[in-house]
Amino acid sequence: MKKFYVKDCPENMAVHDWILKSTDLDYYVKNMKPNFKSDGVVKFSNPLIDLDKTKQSVDNAFEQFGWFGFLNILGNEAFRSPTYGGLSLVYNSNYKQKEQVLPVCQTLGYPRINAKSQFIIENPNLNTKIMLAKADKTLWKKIGERGLHGGFDFLCKEAEVITEQECTDLKQRYTDQKNESVELYDRKNTYNDSWSFNEPTEVMNYEYLEHIAGLFKRSFIRSRLASFKNIDNTEVKEGVNQYMWHRDDTMFVEARINMVVTAPEDAFGIEIEDIGKYYYKPGDWITWDTGLTHRPFVDKPGLERSSLVYAVSPWFDYIKEEDAWIQNEFYGNKHPLDMFVEGDIITGLTVDNQSK
Ligand SMILES: [Fe+2]
Repeated sequence: MKKFYVKDCPENMAVHDWILKSTDLDYYVKNMKPNFKSDGVVKFSNPLIDLDKTKQSVDNAFEQFGWFGFLNILGNEAFRSPTYGGLSLVYNSNYKQKEQVLPVCQTLGYPRINAKSQFIIENPNLNTKIMLAKADKTLWKKIGERGLHGGFDFLCKEAEVITEQECTDLKQRYTDQKNESVELYDRKNTYNDSWSFNEPTEVMNYEYLEHIAGLFKRSFIRSRLASFKNIDNTEVKEGVNQYMWHRDDTMFVEARINMVVTAPEDAFGIEIEDIGKYYYKPGDWITWDTGLTHRPFVDKPGLERSSLVYAVSPWFDYIKEEDAWIQNEFYGNKHPLDMFVEGDIITGLTVDNQSK
């Protein structure tokens, strides 16, 4: 079993990217398919968990620790979302921004490196086009490497999302932001370093939530208690839905599952591109291929929802005493979705749906 000491990870790489490069993990990311067949959202229940007690402890946690909006940037201004936020379930004691960001909100957003997103915020249609072309991840990388204008060139010449004229217009409207020494950027212990968020916050083990955390068999990484609120009217609702399309890391790196805690009927859910909508129901545990373009959505204003979003590293376990990640027996042998289905990640989890 290969073991990776965090101290050996270079500063310009996130720990999971470093491990990915040092193993054949990428081969499995590209080639391995789950035995369990699903049409999109996979739904589970867990009879070992009392929903009412969970709700009570979530309410108490917000009262005890507060509520933090997701941190975004608008131009050069950092701001916290009034509608989407919550509390962090894990933190990183070596986090680079720990002086500015409390442990209970480290996993609730931080501006991307060298990627000012004002042009996205001001051009929602462009954002949709980028998402539909699945060009978002590469775009942020190109902007990181070549600056903002280099990113526009990528959108024009390589992704073919915008015309030459649109590219010129964008360059006139938004000044270039470049950082020559991008290779030297620290990524270890920054927001990108998902696996380094692995120490439980007080919220993770608060009251009844400790019982839920105790059912997990794998190491926690970037996890949060997430909630929507202050969706005061239809206009706010539309605004929220417009900017939510995104993709997350592959399940092999970050196996994520949501326990829905509070969700009024037919009000909130998750929509997966080309697959459709799933409406949240309290007590459901849900997962899906987070590499597909998806968004949380709100269909009715004036309501609130909350979910516990747990993420684990499926094939590497963290050894705290050694500050190291070690390959486990599932590496190369079992797809993370099958691990959820077969109880290798959470004790008591029972799958509720299987497609034909
Ligand atoms: Fe997501």
